Amino acid sequence: MSLQNLMKLTQQRTEIALNQWLPPVTMPPTRLHEAMRYSVLQGGKRIRPLLVYLAGKTLNVKEEWLDTPACAVEFIHAYSLIHDDLPAMDDDMLRRGKPTCHIAFDEATAILAGDALQTLAFYVLSHHNSPVTATRQLQMLETLTLASGSRGMVGGQAIDIASVGKMLNIAELENMHIHKTGALIRASVKLGALSCPDITDAQMECLDHYAKCIGLAFQIQDDILDVEASTEVLGKTSGADDALHKPTYPNIIGLNESKQLAQSLVNQAIASLDDFATAAEPLRWMANYIITRNF
Ligand code: IPE
Ligand code: IPE
Ligand code: MG
Ligand code: MG
Ligand code: MG
Repeated sequence: MSLQNLMKLTQQRTEIALNQWLPPVTMPPTRLHEAMRYSVLQGGKRIRPLLVYLAGKTLNVKEEWLDTPACAVEFIHAYSLIHDDLPAMDDDMLRRGKPTCHIAFDEATAILAGDALQTLAFYVLSHHNSPVTATRQLQMLETLTLASGSRGMVGGQAIDIASVGKMLNIAELENMHIHKTGALIRASVKLGALSCPDITDAQMECLDHYAKCIGLAFQIQDDILDVEASTEVLGKTSGADDALHKPTYPNIIGLNESKQLAQSLVNQAIASLDDFATAAEPLRWMANYIITRNF
């Protein structure tokens, strides 16, 4: 099977699983459930679920053991996007080519849909069905909670908001990016890896290094695309970072240096997969995709 086909099938598997976990629109409160489904389904590259499945696949983990962590991390991501787009945050009107949740519904519904998706994530993860021990399952819950909260994504978002209009130095910029975006990407790989009952510490270390590198590269590419891609292709408003006076890699170190840095992080990520030989080919493909994607 080609890698492109593997990605497509994995994305399809993710769509089916997400759909099954989301409450039906016929269930009250219907408007809230409609907003949750609106924001999760139809659109999204599903990069975080793909990383859960592909990290697991590298270690020979069965796909059906990976469905719950893959969905859990995507629910956290979807909630983070709804809240990121709110007027009090980035005040965006377009997401995945459609009106953002608070525009399509209303602000209160968008806040609540985000809240509900966050708790749904942990509900789903607590239904993990693999032969790993209960201790390991708690470790998975801990991984996602830490990556999502004030020491992870939410903390990064707080730094982002506090940094509007400021010139950060490179260390500060990196710190913001590894929290707001890197943490959840790192958790995705770790959840896939933790689904393998007999993963070794050495394997975990290699995969974690891979994840750290692509997590930062991912947000650098997001910053680059905000400058270079059109609104039509992006499905979100191009140029929004500059309009909001956000510090980004392109405006702190320049576009060319940003591209070089993203490439060198991807090279480092790929180098850390050497011990897995051909089993890690899909993860190598993902690392390249993260900086060659055009939306
Ligand atoms: C966008 O993430 C938000 C960031 C963390 C930069 P993605 O580019 O993965 O968004 P979707 O899920 O594909 O829409
Ligand atoms: C968003 O970063 C990070 C999270 C949602 C946690 P951005 O604000 O750059 O994401 P986009 O560009 O709106 O997708
Ligand atoms: Mg933001
Ligand atoms: Mg934003
Ligand atoms: Mg962005």
